[in-house]
Amino acid sequence: MNTSNRPTDLPAFQIPDENRRVLLARRPLGIPQPDDFAIETAPRPSPTPGTFLIRNIYLSADPAQRGWASAEANYSEPVAIGGPMRGLTVGIVVDSMDPEVSVGEFLYGLFDWQDFAVADRSKILMRLRKPLPLQVCTNLLGINGLTAYLALTELGRPQSGETLLVSTAAGAVGGFVGQIGRLLGCRTIGLTGDDAKVERCRTRYGYAEAFNYKTADLNAVLNDAAPQGIDVYFDNTGGPILDTALRHMARGGRIVQCGTASTASWNPVPTGPRNEREVLTRRLVWSGFIVFDYLDRFEQAADRLAEWYLDGKIVSDEDISEGIEHAPGAIASLYAGKNVGKKLIYIGR
Ligand SMILES: NC(=O)c1ccc[n+]([C@@H]2O[C@H](COP(=O)([O-])OP(=O)(O)OC[C@H]3O[C@@H](n4cnc5c(N)ncnc54)[C@H](OP(=O)(O)O)[C@@H]3O)[C@@H](O)[C@H]2O)c1
Repeated sequence: MNTSNRPTDLPAFQIPDENRRVLLARRPLGIPQPDDFAIETAPRPSPTPGTFLIRNIYLSADPAQRGWASAEANYSEPVAIGGPMRGLTVGIVVDSMDPEVSVGEFLYGLFDWQDFAVADRSKILMRLRKPLPLQVCTNLLGINGLTAYLALTELGRPQSGETLLVSTAAGAVGGFVGQIGRLLGCRTIGLTGDDAKVERCRTRYGYAEAFNYKTADLNAVLNDAAPQGIDVYFDNTGGPILDTALRHMARGGRIVQCGTASTASWNPVPTGPRNEREVLTRRLVWSGFIVFDYLDRFEQAADRLAEWYLDGKIVSDEDISEGIEHAPGAIASLYAGKNVGKKLIYIGR
């Protein structure tokens, strides 16, 4: 086992004089499309006292960026029009005027979609000090693995022998939720949007059963797959999948509301079946999760995830495009379900 405290499998990266930046050109309506962004080139910036300069190597594409770019109801300020697109990245510190941040350190944080960022420590989500491939650090030790682990264990609280249902089961978060649920002794059922991903759920992420929610009769398959009911539903989609799953929850079941991928727009607020009676009669606990509320738990969660990875108990899949020109279309591509694993954009060259 590699015992160094640095990421491994480092891809090549250069330190150009220019800084390519993906800017938010206009406020998106619903899911951000490539034309909502513009790429500009500016001179490479320099750090000022108390800050450091980071060279981004992988840009992360995340469904949350749709909310960050829009003016719809959200938990954070919308990205400014004409400003760099808010984004998670992994990079290396190449210059520093902060004595606590060293040149050569690898950091994961909110350094935005650009080659270089001048940032202070408030933007760091994690200092990468584990001997895992850099791309795996961006996924398993990034918000995808952390969300899967923290939301499932803190809010889903699965017990060994319980039945766990997961939507977007083959996605970056969902793939980890299925694997962690199995490691914790649950019987796992996955829902995803195409047959190849269904196969991947079964063969790679260890789901006991998996179904294509677009073609299966969801009511019938959940009746068969969870005859005693679902104890924990880890929901990344909301919408019709949630409406059906609710009616298969076991008494005292827990629903973790982690994402709402199936709703294209929250303005106007969509209508649907009334669900409060199901929550009441089944004595359900329905909790919302935002990973940034758990910053003080990241290190502890990352230790556990890294240990599972190094012991070969968990796999981490990344879907990597090369070149910053892939960034503007990356969020739309996620919502079209085109990614197989965590969507990353490599911009080191
Ligand atoms: N609350 C938090 O703090 C937090 C943090 C991280 C992520 N999340 C949420 O976790 C979820 C998964 O994120 P991720 O990064 O792992 O992305 P992902 O699952 O790798 O990619 C998004 C997936 O959403 C599915 N999808 C898109 N449109 C859909 C629709 N109309 N109905 C049902 N499914 C649809 C697609 O999967 P299929 O092909 O299977 O349909 C697509 O691959 C997202 O909802 C995200 O917002 C929440």
